[in-house]
Amino acid sequence: MKLHYRKANNCSAFILLSLDFGHELQNSAYSSLRNEIILIYHYFRLRMHSPKKEIVLSKQTIQNRVSELGQDITRDYQDKELVVIGVLKGAFIFMADLTRTIDLPISTDFIQVSSYGGSSSSSGKITLVSSPSQSIEKQHVLLVEDIIDTGLTMQWLAQHFSDQGAASVRICSLIDKSERREHEIKIDYSGFSISEGFLIGYGLDYDEQYRNLSAIYHLTL
Ligand code: IMP
Ligand code: MG
Repeated sequence: MKLHYRKANNCSAFILLSLDFGHELQNSAYSSLRNEIILIYHYFRLRMHSPKKEIVLSKQTIQNRVSELGQDITRDYQDKELVVIGVLKGAFIFMADLTRTIDLPISTDFIQVSSYGGSSSSSGKITLVSSPSQSIEKQHVLLVEDIIDTGLTMQWLAQHFSDQGAASVRICSLIDKSERREHEIKIDYSGFSISEGFLIGYGLDYDEQYRNLSAIYHLTL
């Protein structure tokens, strides 16, 4: 069996195969063909299962709301020393934009936690991955989060900073996703309420992808 194939426009997905039975298959040709078949397989698998994204919040809508949140925070912390703590990784873009709209002499820091045991159940466990580099004892802490879903992470974080002796702990979340809330959380500064769905972009990820998108989208697989 002899196989002839060629690429059109140098794109692996468009390969024309012609089979000519009756000749011996050459090893190198077979190996190339096998690689091309694998590529075609992945291409069609991706095409068939590629996640669809639908815009929910445009870049401009986000920027406008972030400015409003910054103004509210500026007004509320006029006479207080404020430490703004971003929750990694999801809040990194929101944190960068929000802090630049706060017209006060603030300090900034980050914390990272992991949750295990499934976020859909209240049995999920939070583990501290990295702590802020400064002491927050007697400081006014504003926690900045990308999205509050079940509320488990934020409940743990608020308790953590309270245990560390913070003078006050308030919560700012870009998105309040109420659909799966299991732990009651008072969100002092909430950007948007979105009841359901899986969101990506503007720091929010799916499998570490899409964080760099400027807008926020619903992702459906
Ligand atoms: P919670 O502990 O269930 O409130 O989960 C909060 C964390 O889950 C967020 O900080 C996100 O990292 C992640 N998360 C929850 N919902 C979404 C979503 O729709 N898109 C991306 N990440 C999400
Ligand atoms: Mg997060």
